Amino acid sequence: MIQLYHVHKRYPNGTDALVDLTLRVREGEFVFLTGPSGAGKSTLLRLLMVMERATEGQILIGGRNIHVLRDASVPFLRRNIGMIFQDFKLIPRRTVFDNVAISLEIMGLGRKDIAKRVETLLDGLRLGHRLDALPGDLSAGEQQRVAIARALVNEPAILLADEPTGNLDPDLGNDIIQLLLDVGRRGTTVIVATHDVGLIQRYGMRTLTLARGQLAEDLPRQAPLRGGLERGPADRLDLLGQAAMVNPLQASAPAAAEPPAAAAFSEPFAQAGESTAVPAEQTDAKREAP
Ligand SMILES: Nc1ncnc2c1ncn2[C@@H]1O[C@H](COP(=O)(O)OP(=O)(O)OP(=O)(O)O)[C@@H](O)[C@H]1O
Ligand SMILES: [Mg+2]
Repeated sequence: MIQLYHVHKRYPNGTDALVDLTLRVREGEFVFLTGPSGAGKSTLLRLLMVMERATEGQILIGGRNIHVLRDASVPFLRRNIGMIFQDFKLIPRRTVFDNVAISLEIMGLGRKDIAKRVETLLDGLRLGHRLDALPGDLSAGEQQRVAIARALVNEPAILLADEPTGNLDPDLGNDIIQLLLDVGRRGTTVIVATHDVGLIQRYGMRTLTLARGQLAEDLPRQAPLRGGLERGPADRLDLLGQAAMVNPLQASAPAAAEPPAAAAFSEPFAQAGESTAVPAEQTDAKREAP
């Protein structure tokens, strides 16, 4: 569960990017985040990723008040959140394989396991033949898929996608959304920022609209228009291989005992020696503020 209470974000130059934003996204929900350029979509995603801190208000993720999360705990939170950036943010001198493998390497997974997971995932994204390519040698669509693979390789509880179809032709854009919907069906909470209204209308998922940093509309999930949620042809982007992957955070848990997203989320904080269940009203500030 992601909860925002009266969140305000003012950048140092005085821009109010988010204004008194209160909203809630349930675990496993798929949400489009829309609004015109400058409305605050990327800012909201950056706050959830703790790449920026809110100026005022509270943000709770899985019961944790991330507004007051210590810097040292941020990497543990991020293990549970995959982010697909508006500008990909691939490492130019690393191969496709390495760009995706890096977070697993940091987590200390063995080389064989890393290779299996990364290759399976990239195969499913039809990039199996580009493992050794450098990002600069890929098309925009291919780079986007590498960015998606990197965001998914940890099997995060939450996936944030910032304009994931922005640089793609409509067909590939559609494929990417289908893929993100698939990820959502597996229990991951997915938030997709996009100003492509046509795309949003096709799928009928819950849609939060920002306007000048405020929540202008919260449109609930609708019955999809005909064709909206249909699966593409079998040879389209496919993450089936990923189903067999084992989340290293859950390696000791019995298979399928709990939805992966929920199970994955609590552990890193436990590893960090911190409680996972922090009621909203308990201000972490007392414990964690410097
Ligand atoms: N680092 C920053 N410093 C100062 N102002 C910023 C910064 N990042 C964003 N802004 C401003 O905050 C507001 C919200 O920007 P944000 O990037 O969140 O919008 P957006 O909805 O993602 O827009 P787009 O659709 O163009 O990506 C804008 O007025 C923007 O100029
Ligand atoms: Mg943006």
